[in-house]
Amino acid sequence: MPKTLWSGRFQKDLAKNALFYTESLSVDAEMIEEDIWGSCAHAIMLARQGIITDDDLQRILEWLMKAQKDYKRGKFILKTDLEDVHMNVEKYIIDGAGSEYGGKLHTARSRNDQVVTDARLYIRNRLLTIQEQVIELSKTFLAIADSHLTTPMPGYTHTQDAQPITLAYWATAYVSIFLRDIERVEHSYRLVNTNPLGSCALAGTTFPIDRRLTTKLLGFNSMHAHSLDAISSRDFISEPLSALAIHMSHLSKLAEELVYWSTYEFNLITLDDSYTAGSSIMPQKKNPCVAELARGRTGAVYGDLVQILTTLKGIPMGYNRDLQEDKPPLWNALNTVEATLSVMNGMMQTVTFNEARMMELAGANFTAATELANYLVWEKKVSFRDSHHIVGGLILKLISEKKDFSSFDDIEKHLSKSGVNIPFDVLRHLLDPRNVVEAYRSEGSTSPTAVKKMADDFRSKLKKHEGRIKKERLHIASSRGKTQKLVDQVLLGKPVKSLRI
Ligand code: ARG
Repeated sequence: MPKTLWSGRFQKDLAKNALFYTESLSVDAEMIEEDIWGSCAHAIMLARQGIITDDDLQRILEWLMKAQKDYKRGKFILKTDLEDVHMNVEKYIIDGAGSEYGGKLHTARSRNDQVVTDARLYIRNRLLTIQEQVIELSKTFLAIADSHLTTPMPGYTHTQDAQPITLAYWATAYVSIFLRDIERVEHSYRLVNTNPLGSCALAGTTFPIDRRLTTKLLGFNSMHAHSLDAISSRDFISEPLSALAIHMSHLSKLAEELVYWSTYEFNLITLDDSYTAGSSIMPQKKNPCVAELARGRTGAVYGDLVQILTTLKGIPMGYNRDLQEDKPPLWNALNTVEATLSVMNGMMQTVTFNEARMMELAGANFTAATELANYLVWEKKVSFRDSHHIVGGLILKLISEKKDFSSFDDIEKHLSKSGVNIPFDVLRHLLDPRNVVEAYRSEGSTSPTAVKKMADDFRSKLKKHEGRIKKERLHIASSRGKTQKLVDQVLLGKPVKSLRI
């Protein structure tokens, strides 16, 4: 006799290799807590609706609680033979409470709605954690900004020296990006937070279930309106994955900057020993391995997104077993992003910015050229195009003479040949990167005043996100607590209909 819970129609067990090919326990065991919570809520609802008796409920809950406890102390060993976590928990209840009781747990439920309920509950938590981590990393960047409001550094376009900026400006740019990343994860969280339980296999059920009750007990924001959609769709997986992939693209940008800024040639930063590694042969080496791996693993997270999108392409409506392949890419992405955020934060908290080198490069290679051109426009009433031409010509000359913007005499001389007279002192002031960054006053620009304003705004936005996440965590904990309280009351022998929900 086959031993699976669905063995009625079968005369043979699944072949061993087919079992290992089809099992998902190795992936979904992680959702056991959610599976038990979902089962408690479902059973309470069934009894409340008179679909099972108080006696049935009591026995089911008693064994669900045992399952939870035994799993935690390693006494409930999940079996691959049972295919997935859902079958393992149900079998445990049936074996414990007897089929006449435990066998009723799966009334008005299918693994199709069960698996997406568990997954949504599980993903919720993970997405909150990721958002908290991005907030922490953003705070690290804000701290860098706070202490470097006036530290000049070279700003680049095309990876070529462009204009001086401040280190605070660079740091707050990441915060600006991360705030959008948080919003993207928050949005995906909202799509995850709908209750599919009660959709059953695909069509809903003839049993008089109360889906709003399980929605409340599981702390979902709303009931997933359409049952066929609920069991068929996996955009609640691809949406967070897409937010994670985009976030990794930003972490990878950061990693790339850390890698080349720490080279001997750039020497803008010194990575802490604790986030670098040595070479087995070259004794002098200090390699930015952590940053390189963050950059490298971005590829894996993109791969996860492409994997789920490709899996979903062409799957017809309804549950199809292909859908079981939804969790590995998301799990992998969640684990990778969490780990990457953790090391990136550590790396940014310990990195040293080489201010002298930043200052040197901020003023080198004619980075103040735009400011000089602007000066001609403002003070000498030259049109911007003409001014661009004059300054371009000046730079061409200086380069041919192997001079740069520190040769004020030469600059003065060449400019006067173009009919522009700028006194030595003015030039010295104008071309100093510290003064250049000070002068960029437009909103959202690099001047300390503008950066401070942005930093304050970002800080208050982060605070709001923190408040929202805290509230959400409290809501989840209180729904979990509510379910547990009902379980405890039922186990004390109280009739479920008498309980306040
Ligand atoms: N392990 C399955 C999954 O992850 C659970 C749902 C199975 N449903 C089914 N009809 N075979 O998708």
